[in-house]
Amino acid sequence: MTTILVTGGAGYVGSVSVAAFLEAGHDVVVLDDLTTGHRAAVPEGARLVEGSYGDAATIAAALTAHRVEAILHCAARSLVGESIADPGKYYRDNVAGGVTLLEAARSAGVQRVG
Ligand SMILES: NC(=O)c1ccc[n+]([C@@H]2O[C@H](COP(=O)([O-])OP(=O)(O)OC[C@H]3O[C@@H](n4cnc5c(N)ncnc54)[C@H](O)[C@@H]3O)[C@@H](O)[C@H]2O)c1
Repeated sequence: MTTILVTGGAGYVGSVSVAAFLEAGHDVVVLDDLTTGHRAAVPEGARLVEGSYGDAATIAAALTAHRVEAILHCAARSLVGESIADPGKYYRDNVAGGVTLLEAARSAGVQRVG
């Protein structure tokens, strides 16, 4: 049994991944800011932390508090129209936010990131 943090676990791809991890017997923590995701989509049995993976303090606290051993990164701003209208936001949140997530994983000693 591994404790896995799934970013975007309240979204389409993430919630299906969470369900598969739970079914395989893993412990799952979801980190999602619920911008396009839905609380009700988080499968029963997973714990939801509401916040952004691009926020260094939020992700560091979640990794430590839940003793996370692996991360599956499914979160992303995902609205095509918005990404065209405001590409800077998508670079900041999806690209720079991803770097923040990787740095937090390294600091917390989480070696498995997918
Ligand atoms: N849906 C598909 O068919 C498909 C196919 C291939 C790849 N993808 C990729 O998979 C990823 C997820 O797609 P999806 O369809 O599940 O989208 P989605 O919008 O359903 O899910 C994304 C989730 O991430 C959350 N989120 C967004 N920014 C966040 C942030 N900064 N911090 C925390 N949570 C945040 C949203 O609230 C949402 O729950 C995207 O990168 C997408 O490009 C999707």
